[in-house]
Amino acid sequence: MKNIFAVVTAAGSGSRLGYSQPKALVCLNGISLVERAVKTFTQHPQVAGVVVTAPADREIFSQFEKIFEGAPQVLVVKGGPSRQASVYQGLLGIEKLAEKLAITKVIPQAKVLIHDAARCLMPTEVIDRISDKLEEVNAVIPVLPVVDTLTKVVNQTGEWAGETPDRSTLRAVQTPQGFKYQTILRAHQKAQANQTGEFTDDASLMQLVNEPVALVAGSEFSLKITTPFDLEIARSLVTLNPSSG
Ligand code: CTP
Ligand code: MG
Repeated sequence: MKNIFAVVTAAGSGSRLGYSQPKALVCLNGISLVERAVKTFTQHPQVAGVVVTAPADREIFSQFEKIFEGAPQVLVVKGGPSRQASVYQGLLGIEKLAEKLAITKVIPQAKVLIHDAARCLMPTEVIDRISDKLEEVNAVIPVLPVVDTLTKVVNQTGEWAGETPDRSTLRAVQTPQGFKYQTILRAHQKAQANQTGEFTDDASLMQLVNEPVALVAGSEFSLKITTPFDLEIARSLVTLNPSSG
């Protein structure tokens, strides 16, 4: 029985990328970032459905709906003003999608993988690693070692180097981040109720429900496309190896 639901966040504007259209609709060798990100999930044998969070703007929203109109296992919902708000809307969409697909009975045991459309070259093996680990624990994130030396700047303006943290104790965190359905829903509901500050990823919300977060290996291919330089790197990767994504 397929028991994975993905939430693909794509409601951001992509201000740092600097295109007039939202980042998720920007194309990489003819295929938009959001289509690439969603396809990796819909082609996975354990994935039951994908909820995509899209910008609320009516015209843009209907562009997203059009992209996925032939895919019944994909539901497009309106995102919110922050990534966290968008993920919450995506989580609420899972039940709606399960009803539409008449598979609500899988929801109690469902695994939820929350992924940024901006990491559209994430390889399918990462889904397997997250999903396998979720057999043992309630929360899992993919990470990479930190290769650069880091410095903790002495003040907000960031003009002076401060302490150098021991990078062997640090990891760079990627998506998809995986959770049991009840665990992640409870954490987001708590964040809503407490009106806690903004969390930049979903694993950080696990502190609200005292849930430990396990680590598995991420992938260099899961780079987040943020700037025009990142888009060029992603283009080169796809051109060199068309099977990536
Ligand atoms: N995201 C979202 N809803 C928001 C903001 C962001 O669903 N309100 C999504 C983005 O679409 C993206 C992911 O969260 O896939 C990670 O965010 P980021 O890379 O920062 O994308 P943007 O916010 O679109 O880019 P920028 O910060 O440069 O404007
Ligand atoms: Mg952003």
